[in-house]
Amino acid sequence: MELILGGTLGFKKFAIFASGLGSNALNLISYARENADKFSIEVLVTDKEDAPVIKEAKKLGVAVEVIPYIKTEYPKLDKKNHEEKILEALKKYNISWIILAGYMRILSSDFLSNFYDISFKRNRVLNIHPSLLPDFPGKDGYGDAFAAGVPVTGVTVHFVDSGVDAGPIFLQRSFERHESDSLEDFISRGKKIEHELYREAVKLVIEDRI
Ligand code: GRF
Repeated sequence: MELILGGTLGFKKFAIFASGLGSNALNLISYARENADKFSIEVLVTDKEDAPVIKEAKKLGVAVEVIPYIKTEYPKLDKKNHEEKILEALKKYNISWIILAGYMRILSSDFLSNFYDISFKRNRVLNIHPSLLPDFPGKDGYGDAFAAGVPVTGVTVHFVDSGVDAGPIFLQRSFERHESDSLEDFISRGKKIEHELYREAVKLVIEDRI
């Protein structure tokens, strides 16, 4: 299936993909509202019918596409069907970028090829991960870094390819672990940085400063 991508230059339209609480998604939706003359978040895509982010995004006036992942005995086909449904749903929004914000699925290279930008040779898809990649990829970046006892960790925004938390790094910011930190303190310091760093990354994208 072919998706016609919105243009890169000038006003940009984004889709956000999220599966959970969506603090990053909501932070960027607020950022878009503050900069409505520069870019828009047209739609939130989620694979989870009960994701808390759905209600909050709707309250902020963002369209929501709930596209559940349906499991059969053919996982490859399931993934293909799911991604085709997403592409079909995205067609009406004319977006040029996707932002992943706690979206808990790996996108296939077939899907990502719809967002490949020949000018800067990356997919126009960003993800945020709570560690200094390539350290601590996977589902629990904060938990893994905390358990490893590293004195410094951080947050990474990267372009997405079909690996797990792989793809060229765009921005990184580190933060220290304090001796007295509980895991909750550590995560809340990190989340604050995530929200700042994702805004910075989006700002660079909308200003064509990649
Ligand atoms: C964040 O920690 C992000 O780095 C990771 O998933 C988490 C999503 O959190 N990819 P939230 O739903 O945005 O609060």
